[in-house]
Amino acid sequence: MLIKELLRLEAEGQSITVRGWVRTKRELKNFIFVEVNDGSCLASIQCTFDRNNDTLAALGTGCSVEVKGKLAPSPSAGQRSEVAAETISLIGSADNYPLQKKRHSMEFLREIAHLRARTNTFGAVARTRSRLAFAVHEFFQNRDFHYIHTPIITANDAEGAGAMFQVTALDMDKASGLPPVDYSKDFFGKKAFLTVSGQLEAETYATALSRVYTFGPTFRAENSNTARHLAEFWMIEPEVAFADLEDNMRLAEDFLKFLFATAMEKCAEDLAFFDARIQKGVADTLRKVVESRFVHITYTEAVKELEKQSEKFEFKPFWGCDLQSEHEKFLTESVASGPVIVTDYPKEIKAFYMKMNDDGKTARAMDVLVPRLGEIIGGSQREDSLELLESRMAELGMNVTDYSWYLDLRRFGAVPHSGFGMGFERLILYITGMANIRDVVPYPRAPGLVEF
Ligand code: 4AD
Ligand code: MG
Repeated sequence: MLIKELLRLEAEGQSITVRGWVRTKRELKNFIFVEVNDGSCLASIQCTFDRNNDTLAALGTGCSVEVKGKLAPSPSAGQRSEVAAETISLIGSADNYPLQKKRHSMEFLREIAHLRARTNTFGAVARTRSRLAFAVHEFFQNRDFHYIHTPIITANDAEGAGAMFQVTALDMDKASGLPPVDYSKDFFGKKAFLTVSGQLEAETYATALSRVYTFGPTFRAENSNTARHLAEFWMIEPEVAFADLEDNMRLAEDFLKFLFATAMEKCAEDLAFFDARIQKGVADTLRKVVESRFVHITYTEAVKELEKQSEKFEFKPFWGCDLQSEHEKFLTESVASGPVIVTDYPKEIKAFYMKMNDDGKTARAMDVLVPRLGEIIGGSQREDSLELLESRMAELGMNVTDYSWYLDLRRFGAVPHSGFGMGFERLILYITGMANIRDVVPYPRAPGLVEF
């Protein structure tokens, strides 16, 4: 039985078996206490022995064990039961176990990413990730969205920004220093990449099934060495036919509120831990978002607000600039005191597929910003006019023939449609209050970082 289940049992005196990893061992005069954790929940279960034996003497932190005994009421506050232990068997020893201290630095734990899930913090992060991934599916499935598995290897740059990892079966050791590579001899017969977004393929399914979403790994080769960027991250991208930007904003707000409410309800024990040990007030921030109404503001209005307080910023805001973290922070914390959706950005700083406004200068884009983090969601209404999309692509020097399949959606039964993307790790960062995105994914990939 898992410790999570044992801790729920009422009956005293029941014979039980606990299997897990030793967190601590304390020896008192008449008793030996062994805390065992199996990761099924944050709590460990205390196993109390009234006499020593060879196995107990050899036991240390990190060993795996099996304890048999009887469930007993716990005298210590905060836990209902413990185990009056009868026997213990050592399953695996753990000499020179690296996780001996009560608290290790996040940097140290990153170096032993294969063991860090055995700490309270990383166990809690992993459980929260798992539950929230399920909540993503719950939200969309309950609203008749279909889950589409968009490809990971692609020949197209979905964001038109070019920060892609190349995929090849050619021997790169032989290729360097030689004349240009002949990609017709490569595995796919042309250049291929890891996807930066499943959006374009999701659009093709949205214009067939009406409501779809993708949830899969995406890859960006930007040299962004920040606490909010990963080179490999998971993205959730809904795409809805017959939906405009207003519908999109509503969906994004409902989605975030559902996820935060689910975290509060279903991950309560882990959230209380994050609140106490990782970031004070994190649970309260989530509650406030759930109770708030997201403020809507256009980019132009946002820049006006920022310009009023220009002296506050290192990067001086001006119409046309990309919003910096400090600007996003100011908008959420000082202007709106809560989540903000900024819309209608200058077309120059947004992707080619966004629907153009009548002013010819701005696009029907939206970024959802939340206090403390900044951008958590980015999306838009899509350009559904063939002429406008073709001319925008030409303006950007894109190869229109590469995207002819995408343009077909505008040729055959085009409809207004909209969607957005949310980085799953940004969500988990927000919910857990962890400081660095590298600590909310099991094995972070970032510039210069790819451990096994
Ligand atoms: O704003 P982005 O680049 O938008 C897209 O990729 C669109 N195709 C989405 C769509 O409309 N379907 O990325 C969307 C979100 C961001 O708001 C952020 O949460 C996350 O993905 N994100 C990253 N998360 C971690 N590391 C990175 N390097 C990220 N880049 C984007
Ligand atoms: Mg974005």
